[in-house]
Amino acid sequence: MTSVTENPAPILLRKDLARSIRQGQPWIYRDALQPGDDLPDGALVEVRTRDGRPLARGFWDARSPIAVRVLESGGPGHRFTDIETLIAGRLAAALDRRLDRLDLANTNAFRWVHGEADLLPGIHADYYAGAAVIRFDGAGARAFYGPIEERLRAAAGSRLPLDAVLDRDQRGGADEREVIEDGVRFLVDLAHGQKGGLFLDQRENRLLVAGRARGKSLLNLFGYTGGFAIHAAVACARRTDTVDIAAPAIEAARRNFELNNLDLASAGLHATDAFDFLTQAIKRGEQWDIVVSDPPSFAAKCDAVPAARQAYQRLHRLAASVTRPGGLLCAASCSSHVGRADFLATIESGVRQAGRNWQLEAVYGAAFDHPVIAAFPQGDYLKFAVGAVS
Ligand SMILES: C[S@@+](CC[C@H](N)C(=O)[O-])C[C@H]1O[C@@H](n2cnc3c(N)ncnc32)[C@H](O)[C@@H]1O
Repeated sequence: MTSVTENPAPILLRKDLARSIRQGQPWIYRDALQPGDDLPDGALVEVRTRDGRPLARGFWDARSPIAVRVLESGGPGHRFTDIETLIAGRLAAALDRRLDRLDLANTNAFRWVHGEADLLPGIHADYYAGAAVIRFDGAGARAFYGPIEERLRAAAGSRLPLDAVLDRDQRGGADEREVIEDGVRFLVDLAHGQKGGLFLDQRENRLLVAGRARGKSLLNLFGYTGGFAIHAAVACARRTDTVDIAAPAIEAARRNFELNNLDLASAGLHATDAFDFLTQAIKRGEQWDIVVSDPPSFAAKCDAVPAARQAYQRLHRLAASVTRPGGLLCAASCSSHVGRADFLATIESGVRQAGRNWQLEAVYGAAFDHPVIAAFPQGDYLKFAVGAVS
């Protein structure tokens, strides 16, 4: 296996970040460093305090505002782990944590590596029935992790079948796989699908909604390839409607219903804008027992937050209007810039604008294979609020 050079380039901090780096903060912005370093992407660096004491090791990104992603920190006298051992150990530990909880015969699609929260900054790896789909956050990570395919294969060993490793940003050709998620089958398009195939972060929430769906009608807004609706239909929902603006996603949803031998007569599939769909449904006086809203991020950057709040509020007003009295509204946000309290406020005010009341039951997050660590709150992005609308 090609090995990463073990001669780290020294990098001096300009700002006093020693404490937060020791506490696990994985990102060091360029403006926190003394100027002048000109290193190649992926170079191993040793971050030193302003007075030159070694503090952490990480890798360099030549262009990103995040100049260094920290791999390991340690106080005076700390012996840093060699990089091959460190990466191999962390890939294996991340896999152990997943395999401890998952029965591969029942669920063979999961996030194996969740970047910073698995102490492997800058890399995500999703597993789909024998294929790993990798995403690098920038050229530094891509260069640093280099021979990742060999490393993943070594970590998988005999515990996990692995026949392909695909780079999400360099996908081509066709790779469609059938996966199983909590006993439900899905076709995933690894070459062209959004987020590398399935939105794995919602896996536990799909199951949670399915557990409430028996005999009920369900509206699956921003439904992608049918996930929430198909789980609900398997759990004997009376009727489902799935809405997504992407026609290929709706076509994939139809195939997923068929794959699970579900009756398409009670599965509405609508390739249209969710806001338009809701406006029309309100005009027709249509309502559902359970409404799930899982839009794409409305705030990719901080300065988009005010507009995102408005969009959420409008969406929640419309969604509450089509929720049957006593029904359930399940509202998701994957915008890390919109905090939990802010997001809940958009539900409260949207529901009130619809002339209805909202009683929050619980706010869930991403599935366990998308862990969150205190030192990296940016990773705590998914909110899934479940509550009754009266
Ligand atoms: C976060 S994903 C939903 C994942 C899905 N709930 C699941 O469990 O697989 C967001 C989806 O919203 C769709 N979308 C984006 N804008 C939309 C719009 N204006 N109306 C309807 N769907 C939209 C995207 O095509 C994407 O499939």
